[in-house]
Amino acid sequence: MKWLDGGRPDPKPGREKDLGRFEITVRDGQARLGRLHTSHGVLQTPCLLPVVNPNIRTIEPREMYDKYGIEALITNSYVIWKHDHLKEVALEKGVHELIDFPGVIMTDSGTFQSYVYGDVEVGVDEIVNFQREIGVDIATMLDVFSRPDMTFTQVEAAVDETINRAEISLAAAGNVMLNGPIQGGIFPELRSKSARAMSEFGFAIHPIGGIVPVMEQQRYKELAKIILASKSNLNPSRPVHIFGCGHPMLFPMLVALGADLFDSAAYALFARDGRLLTPWGTERIDELTEWPILVPSVVNHTPAEVRAMSKEERTTLLAHFNLEVTLQELSRCRQAVRDGNIWRLAERRSHEHPRLREAFLWLVTNPSLSDIEPLILDEISSSKETGKHKGRWEENWNWLVQSQTTPRGGSESWGSQDTHERPHVEMARRRIFARWNSSKSGDVLVLHGASPPWRERVGELVDRIVNTELEIMVLTPLGLIPWSLEDLNPWAHIDGPDWLWKRKPDHAWITRELERFGIEHRRLITLDISETEGLHARAFAMLELEPSDRDQDAVKTKQAIDKLCVLSNISKEQADKIMEDASFAMSRTGRIRNVITSDGRHIFSPRLGEGGISYTIEGAKWAHSIRKLPLPKGFETSAIDENIGEGLAFVVIDEDAVPFVGQGRNVMHGFILACDPWTRPDETVLIVNSSGKLVAVGRATSMPSEMATFSKGIAVRVREGIGCP
Ligand code: GUN
Repeated sequence: MKWLDGGRPDPKPGREKDLGRFEITVRDGQARLGRLHTSHGVLQTPCLLPVVNPNIRTIEPREMYDKYGIEALITNSYVIWKHDHLKEVALEKGVHELIDFPGVIMTDSGTFQSYVYGDVEVGVDEIVNFQREIGVDIATMLDVFSRPDMTFTQVEAAVDETINRAEISLAAAGNVMLNGPIQGGIFPELRSKSARAMSEFGFAIHPIGGIVPVMEQQRYKELAKIILASKSNLNPSRPVHIFGCGHPMLFPMLVALGADLFDSAAYALFARDGRLLTPWGTERIDELTEWPILVPSVVNHTPAEVRAMSKEERTTLLAHFNLEVTLQELSRCRQAVRDGNIWRLAERRSHEHPRLREAFLWLVTNPSLSDIEPLILDEISSSKETGKHKGRWEENWNWLVQSQTTPRGGSESWGSQDTHERPHVEMARRRIFARWNSSKSGDVLVLHGASPPWRERVGELVDRIVNTELEIMVLTPLGLIPWSLEDLNPWAHIDGPDWLWKRKPDHAWITRELERFGIEHRRLITLDISETEGLHARAFAMLELEPSDRDQDAVKTKQAIDKLCVLSNISKEQADKIMEDASFAMSRTGRIRNVITSDGRHIFSPRLGEGGISYTIEGAKWAHSIRKLPLPKGFETSAIDENIGEGLAFVVIDEDAVPFVGQGRNVMHGFILACDPWTRPDETVLIVNSSGKLVAVGRATSMPSEMATFSKGIAVRVREGIGCP
């Protein structure tokens, strides 16, 4: 958002062929930054559409556009339709002139009025026709509001009736983008049903409806369930709008769950009551001596001065305050998505309100009870529901976890017990548990007591015991990792207090970890490495071993093999084979820079930042040559513990795209015919043509379901093409 003093030029209309399309530019799990192409500009998401009441304009729409860079707003077509003075202007001059707003205008349909006042007297096709006639960019069908106090049968009727109205509404909309709201009250199965059914029609956007009373009653746990049940069943290429949500406190959690658009009248309604929105809740102007946040609208006034203003002047000023704070929190969310830490922001914000904390804890504990930590906090255990719900949300939670990128750059900032429950941490852990296999048959040596980089502290010791049958592991605050993955994030970059590493090793926890690695029956030896003085002598005595020579190559080879297995899903057998007699080009700090096969091919390079690996085209050719499975045919998704050892995922592209991609251009959505079920965002994939010939190597941006449904944006960032065929 820009803070502009003067007017802003009108937006450029999107290209005709792109109208209505949505693309993702950056993602962080299910959170995404997107671009929605409309005839009044390309809307950057996530964003807020302020509600403008055409009869009462607390802040002028033109000012929203010019001063705050607001690209879209929402108004109510039913209100315009009902008032002749508005209707006439709208029909004659169009809604943009009526509202005096050059950006994107979304209109609602009257459903909310029917919830507040009872029935509305407008027809299902009539209100959509009207929205089209007045030139809105995004119209809304007349859905049936499902209240949280309704019975299952009543809500099901609302869901079914909304589905029944879809076709006639879409016909009335013509080529105007249409909102297809998801209803379902507080019943997850009805939300899922609504989401699946509405995805089948050609809607442009799916708002989540029927949640205003849920938010008013601060039933945020219910809200989280509604969003999770709806989002995980929706066509992922459609933006999702959270109807009536404008409290900044809720944004981080909802963005983390995949919300793209918000609308709210809260900035104005709260201002009228003298209430201030903040990311941690609501404050009253009557009780303030200082501003909770200093934003441009209030820098020249004290709260006391504002209290002394006329009601109208005060409302306008507080509406500005509320809008500024709201926009600020959304900016923060977008930056967090870019930085890959939206979940952490949601985690932090969850502490601001007990009900939000309850929702957050439900999210991280109930959908999947992770068993990583011995000391589950009371607050977590008390938020668990009774056994009957256990496992019920597994699929929805997996939807969130499976989309997480790992390894990722930067450090893992420690934030209490919650750190364990971050979805990308869970994904990273699931991946090593599923794909790593012990190649030793002896005892398990667990090194503990020190923070990374461990190689500087005990690298030499490991070099001297690598050729024994000991399986060497490191105990980290996020669980155990095999020594061969010691530089892999998040374990290798945890930013937290010293005591995290200094805790006494908990044998029960270690055993549970070893169970997940499938080596719990081995004898467990723990070695405190906090003190390096005399460490070798202590270690050899304890292990009853004679000191032997260092074998750095053996350590590096094992690291490369294990990374091929864990990060590239290569089978152990193939990884062993390619690494036979391989050599290494080393960095100045003694880490592997390039891996070169015995016949001189540079196949991959470890990424020193986060511990991942990058393939060269020679590496891609090798990975392609060892493929055993037939080409994928569709866009199924598999769990992380399926398809083990099947190699890098294949993405099959259309022949039209082959010449471009072969030259190193990115694979765009819309040109993908199929992909392997284990394709994941940020992971290396092999791009092949429809007969399976290698075209390029790159990193996917998407899940299979996204590859199947998106028609715009980058699907694979190509690293290197095979060249001209
Ligand atoms: N505004 C707030 N909630 C809703 C809803 O459920 N449907 C529609 N159309 N508008 C809303």
